[in-house]
Amino acid sequence: MRGTIFGMQIRLQKVIASSGLASRRKAEAMIAQGRVTVNGKVVRELGTRVDPARDHVKVDGRHLEPGQPHVYVMLNKPKGFVSSLSDPEGRPTVKNLLPGVSVRVFPVGRLDSDSEGLMLLTNHGDLAQALVHPRYQVPKTYLIKVKGVLADEEIKSLERGVELEDGVTGPARVKKVRKAEQNSWLEITIHEGRKHQVKRMLEAVGHPVSKLIRVRFGPLALRDLAAGEYRYLTDREANALRDLVRSRTNSETGEQHRSARNKARVSSRLTRRPVESLGVEREPRVRQAHHPTRLSSPVESLGVERSQAEPGRGIGRATPHSSRVSMRRSA
Ligand code: URA
Repeated sequence: MRGTIFGMQIRLQKVIASSGLASRRKAEAMIAQGRVTVNGKVVRELGTRVDPARDHVKVDGRHLEPGQPHVYVMLNKPKGFVSSLSDPEGRPTVKNLLPGVSVRVFPVGRLDSDSEGLMLLTNHGDLAQALVHPRYQVPKTYLIKVKGVLADEEIKSLERGVELEDGVTGPARVKKVRKAEQNSWLEITIHEGRKHQVKRMLEAVGHPVSKLIRVRFGPLALRDLAAGEYRYLTDREANALRDLVRSRTNSETGEQHRSARNKARVSSRLTRRPVESLGVEREPRVRQAHHPTRLSSPVESLGVERSQAEPGRGIGRATPHSSRVSMRRSA
């Protein structure tokens, strides 16, 4: 197990998740199904704590593999892919877009299958859990195309919070990007992650969304990563994610929700470390995925980088020493 110390008692589901075998939720299901033994005895109790350095944990009769180094992947999810690793309906998933990632990484949060843009995937379970937890208020920015043009009052109402069936939304930031006759482009930043939230917010003010691209997630920006491509985070980006969670764990908001003991535990799990030491390249590498898709929206006029508004255009090849994808303008 990664960095365990003798005498440390850790929840069984966390021990399984940090071995890279399954997400924490799937590990809980495995325990409940009686597939997990500790020192030869089946354990179904989710609260069970074990010392990974001493106890023998097996899943389906097999010892857990030692923990993998942390790996962080940024993917530009195209439309038509579901943001989970498997789909009961057999639709293509983000897993199909990560052909060269041999480590089991899990999506951090969701994007609808008809949404596009930045998805983070990682095997760093604690960080992933924190990044999607409402307590940490991680900002997510979306570039959206909506029907019609929003009046200033409608923008203010989105910014203050709108009434949805699951409650009033938190404060948002909305920026006009471009107007057309029938529709307009906006950039909206929210700090929650409710299902279909952006679409429902815009629907509530009478301007349905016809295109949604996530362009930022916390400190990460999609920039020129083309649709269907992925790259590993840089050392700096991975540390920025850990710093974000750590700073919010230590902030007043965190203070109200956490005991001092918990804070120390989370902070220590999020220790900054160079990515090279984890066996991951410093330079972000871009890989072309199997099914790049093309969009047909206007670009430069949106005031955003080409790849964000029109990610699939002229997908280039990764250069060995750069994260840049060369973009060819199509006629
Ligand atoms: N909000 C939505 O409505 N859909 C997404 O995919 C992401 C945010």
